[in-house]
This record gives sequence, C-alpha cells and structure tokens, in this order.
Amino acid sequence: MTILKTSVAKKIAMALSGLFLVMFIFIHLAINLTLIYPGKEAFDAAVEFMATNPFIQLMQPVLFLGFIFHIAMGIYLEWTNRSKRPVNYVNNNSGVASSWASRNMIWTGLFVLLFLAVHFANYFIPFKTQQIHDHYALVTGLFKNPIYTLLYVLAFVALGIHLSHGFQSAFQSLGAPREKCNKALVLCGNIIAFVVAFGFSAIAIYFYFN
Ligand code: HEM
Repeated sequence: MTILKTSVAKKIAMALSGLFLVMFIFIHLAINLTLIYPGKEAFDAAVEFMATNPFIQLMQPVLFLGFIFHIAMGIYLEWTNRSKRPVNYVNNNSGVASSWASRNMIWTGLFVLLFLAVHFANYFIPFKTQQIHDHYALVTGLFKNPIYTLLYVLAFVALGIHLSHGFQSAFQSLGAPREKCNKALVLCGNIIAFVVAFGFSAIAIYFYFN
C-alpha cells in the first residue's frame, strides 16, 4: 500500500512538472511570435524584460529544477515500468489500446532533451556569458543554418507528439474522471500539441526562408 501511495505521488509530481513545463512553453512561444510580429524591437524588449525582471529571475531556477525533475522522473518511471512489464509492448496486447505517442514518451522526451542541449549551447550560454544586446540577430541568425532549423522543427514535432499524450495523461494522473473528461482532454491535448509543434516550427521555417 505504501508502494502504491508512493507511485501515485510520483505520477502526480510528474503530472505537475509536465504541466508547469507546458505553461513555460506557451510563454516561450508568445515571446518567439514577436520575432515575426511586431518584430525586432518588441522581441529585444521582451528578452530584456525576461532577463531583468526580478520575478522571472526568481522563477528561472524553479524552471531549471522543473526540467531536471521531469527528465529524471520520466527516465525513472520508464525504467521501473519496463522492469515490471513482462513482455515488450510490441508483443503485448496492452499495446493495442495505447497510442504510439503514449508508448514512446521516453523517446520523444529524449529527443526534446537532445535539442535542449543544442539550444543551450547555441543560445542560452552565449546569452548568459557574452554581452549580447541584439537577441533578434542571434536567434534569427541560427535559423539560417539548415541543420539547426531541421533539428528545431523535428524537436518541436517530437514535443507535439509528447504533448498529444502528455496533456491528457497529466490530468488523468491528477484524478480527472475518465468518462466525463476524456474526450475534452484528448481534444485539448491535440490542440495544444498542434499549436506548439506548428507555432515554433513555422517561426523557424519563416526565418530560414526570409
Ligand atoms: C518542454 C518539454 C516537456 C514538456 C512540456 C513535457 C510535458 C509532459 C507532460 C504534460 C507529461 C504527462 C505527465 C503525466 O503523465 O502525468 C509528460 C510525461 C512524460 N515526459 Fe515529458 N515533457 C517535456 C520534456 C520531457 C523530456 C526532456 C523528457 C526526457 C526524458 C520527458 C519524459 C517524459 C516521460 C517518460 C513521460 C511519461 C511518464 C509516465 O507517465 O510514466 N519529457 N511530459
């Protein structure tokens, strides 16, 4: 019973960390959209605000810890689920009812993680260590690199797939009644997944060609 309680607590913590990251990703998307409209001045001002606002500065380590927690817990849950599962999903009937996205959360997550490492090296580290004021030039310049843009688009498609299952799964972990909420949660999850995948990818592709 204690073990059950612990694993439920882990699922809830995983759900909360996932939803926290969803919130962050939407703020990030809103800021990135200013690259296209209204444009350079608005984007630079938004980045400057994020870099200097005391509340945002306070939230930065929380976000970092949220990522670390989500990734570590995701890997841990996958590891323990695999060791408990007698047969691989492919040969197992449970695979029939589950979606591809739900069976591959770890792989879409790890792909996003790979992109995060590249993003850190190309953007976050220069941003933190150098006196960069033209953020617009730094970001849009990166999109001129076809390999970076391809990785970027693939990573956000992977994140979209991750969220197409993750969003509804998080609410189910938090106890949303299956019969009442399932359809609405699936629909919301799919819309969120599409907006994230399409929104970030469209910005990258726009600057690749313009
Ligand atoms: C911005 C990035 C990310 C967002 C917005 C996100 C969001 C989510 C959400 C909402 C869930 C559902 C939680 C639940 O089932 O209760 C989830 C689950 C999961 N995430 Fe992420 N995630 C992100 C990155 C990652 C990364 C980098 C990994 C790397 C390993 C990862 C691995 C997982 C795994 C394995 C699960 C399934 C856990 C389970 O139900 O057993 N995620 N994610």
